[in-house]
Amino acid sequence: MQSLYSNGFEKIYDAMYQTFIDYDDEFDFYSNIIKKHHKKNVLEIGCGTGNLAKHFINSNLEYVGLDLSEDMINLSKLKNPSGMFIHGDITTYALKKPLEATIITGRTSSYLLRNKTIHSALKSIHNNLTTDGLLCFDFIDASRFIKSIKEGKKVYHEACFENNCYFRESYMKNNDLDNFMFNWDAIYYQKTNSDPIKLTEDKSVVRAFTKNEWELFLYLNDFTLLEFIDRKSYAFDTYVVVAKKN
Ligand SMILES: C[S@@+](CC[C@H](N)C(=O)[O-])C[C@H]1O[C@@H](n2cnc3c(N)ncnc32)[C@H](O)[C@@H]1O
Repeated sequence: MQSLYSNGFEKIYDAMYQTFIDYDDEFDFYSNIIKKHHKKNVLEIGCGTGNLAKHFINSNLEYVGLDLSEDMINLSKLKNPSGMFIHGDITTYALKKPLEATIITGRTSSYLLRNKTIHSALKSIHNNLTTDGLLCFDFIDASRFIKSIKEGKKVYHEACFENNCYFRESYMKNNDLDNFMFNWDAIYYQKTNSDPIKLTEDKSVVRAFTKNEWELFLYLNDFTLLEFIDRKSYAFDTYVVVAKKN
């Protein structure tokens, strides 16, 4: 899905994701966890186009959004002029001051394909959290999801903005890739009165995880796992991890 995050496609992403992610519900879910652990500020890694940011900025929690895509960051800033957004990579970022909580939502963890990358990401997160800092993120549950795409799975989404309508046909399939990675092929079209116009094709590899893998990754990088929350989401079987920096 990486090509959807830049070159103008971030606007289609923005319209499309709002049709299947309920960001009010996302905000309630993550802000409740943050408040339950008495944290007063939060970094969102992979903040995308700032849909969750909007809610945090209007709350009494201090918020910083970070994303690898400059186009996503620019759109986040445009939509949330009073927000704080920075361009950065989950594996290398360095904040000016550590924050009390970090969240990673919308299955952004699926882009951490290699174990080495996951260790680098957890190191950066650890370095940028205060003592006892909270880490909360979701992941695609390999134990259920990989079975569900054994024969291939098609997903269709559409969205309209600026007087045009678009749709995306996704095809996910199980294969022999390492580490429960799978192929996610998507084709984007613009609707017209006659045949749709094909805009782009995106072939991505993304990763699903087992709970045991995350238990071990967290342990090796000095986090204590507090809980796994089973959370229904639009196309994927998803768990949310809640962990604490040691
Ligand atoms: C599936 S989108 C989710 C966006 C947002 N959390 C949401 O729910 O709308 C994944 C986001 O992660 C960002 N991303 C991918 N790899 C990243 C990395 N290495 N570091 C920081 N952000 C990354 C992408 O640019 C994209 O905005």
